[in-house]
Parts: sequence; structure tokens; C-alpha cells
Amino acid sequence: MPELAIIGGTGLTSLHNLHIVRREVVHTPYGEPSGPLTYGELGGKEVVFLPRHGSGHNIPPHRINYRANISALKETGVTKVIAVAAVGGIRTDMVPGRLVVPDQIIDYTWSRANTFFEDGLTHVTHVDFTYPYGNDLRDLIIKAAKAARLDIAEEGTYGATQGPRLETAAEINRLESDGCTIVGMTGMPEAVLARELDLSYATCAVIANMAAGRGDGVITMRQIEQHLKSGMENVRTLLEHLVPLL
Ligand code: HPA
Repeated sequence: MPELAIIGGTGLTSLHNLHIVRREVVHTPYGEPSGPLTYGELGGKEVVFLPRHGSGHNIPPHRINYRANISALKETGVTKVIAVAAVGGIRTDMVPGRLVVPDQIIDYTWSRANTFFEDGLTHVTHVDFTYPYGNDLRDLIIKAAKAARLDIAEEGTYGATQGPRLETAAEINRLESDGCTIVGMTGMPEAVLARELDLSYATCAVIANMAAGRGDGVITMRQIEQHLKSGMENVRTLLEHLVPLL
């Protein structure tokens, strides 16, 4: 049974260093996940891969069925989930191409199905979310990055915005004064849903661009795609070093 699932983000719809063993179409009580689960072998171990935006990258952040994705991964028997995500850099050291393992998150999203604990409850449940990411898994990502000689920021506060539009410069100023150092659109409710199902969850973020108002001029998709190309290649290398450490 695989121990680790990897959720791929923008720029990581496939893992070409994954030796695919099988694909499985799954249905969950919450609906359909973003696509079939891909089981394969990476760094000598079996892992499960799921591209968050679909294999054709056609599901926008606010339309992702986060509950179906997390529920489907839980059903595979994995205990750990690494979420790969493209983000914008807010703090000056959060520069394009750099990897970040956030340790905190602030949720600015709305109208997303954000809990498993709402229908048919025998009692109201509040999960602890003081430390939203699994520290053991964060440590593994940092260790693997060091082994692969990749530059990685070992902490960060992820501001999760609604999207699909990018932010205004004033919104980024507000996020910064709240303490956010990076910004992305998919960090929530994914992280809390994993916590509700008792999965250890950590994010490996790739900075695709300076956030709105922090770079020169406007943000273009071309700019984002260019930085993601090399950044996601680094993520593939990192994962290859990480899996043997499990
Ligand atoms: N903002 C939000 N999400 C993102 C960004 C950004 O600047 N870049 C990549 N994902």
C-alpha cells in the first residue's frame, strides 16, 4: 500500500520520473476527484499522484472538488500528502523559481466546501489547526531539498486567495500586513480537509512570479509559465530524493 500521495499543481500535471503502474477512476461520496488516481513507482517506492487541476489543467482553483480529492486519496490508504503548488512571492526574499515549505496559512477563500464535518453528525467536531502543516513531512521536504542541493525557504505564511483572478496591489499589501509571505489559490480548504481526515499534509510551493505590485509591471501567464518550468523540474528532483527517506 502506498504511504505517500502527491497532489500536482499548475505546471505539474504529470510526473515524468514516475513509472506508472496503473490508473484508477474513483468516485467518492463528495463527487468526482480532479481525475483518475495514478499509481506509480518513484525513487523505489509506490506513490499515488493526482493533478489538482485535472490532467488537462482545465479546473480553476475555485471549482476544484477538494473534498473528493482528499477523500479519494484517504481511501487509497496513504498517510501522507505532499501538495505541490504554484504561488506568488510577497516578501522580497520570495523570488521566482524558489521553493518554499510554508509553516502557516491564512484563508481568504469563500464559498468552497471546506469541511467533511457537516451532515449526519452525531456531535459537532472542531479539528485543531494551530499548526496547519505536518511538521514531520515538512522536515522531510527540507531534508530532501538539502540532499538535492536545492534552494528552499524553510518557513512561510501562505495566503490562500479565491482566484481565479490574481490579486490587486492593495490586496497584496493587506496580505503582507497580515503576515503572508506567499500567495496562492489552492492552499485552502485542501490543508484543513487533510487534517480532518488525519492525513499528514505539507505544501511544497514553487514561486512563479512576484505578487501583484511587487515586480515590474503586470503579471503575465508567460512569466508564470517560464518560472514554473524550471521550478517544477526542481520539485521532481526533490521528490526523487524524498521518497527514499520515507
Ligand atoms: N497569486 C495567487 N496565486 C498565484 C500567484 C499569485 O500571484 N502566482 C501563482 N499562483
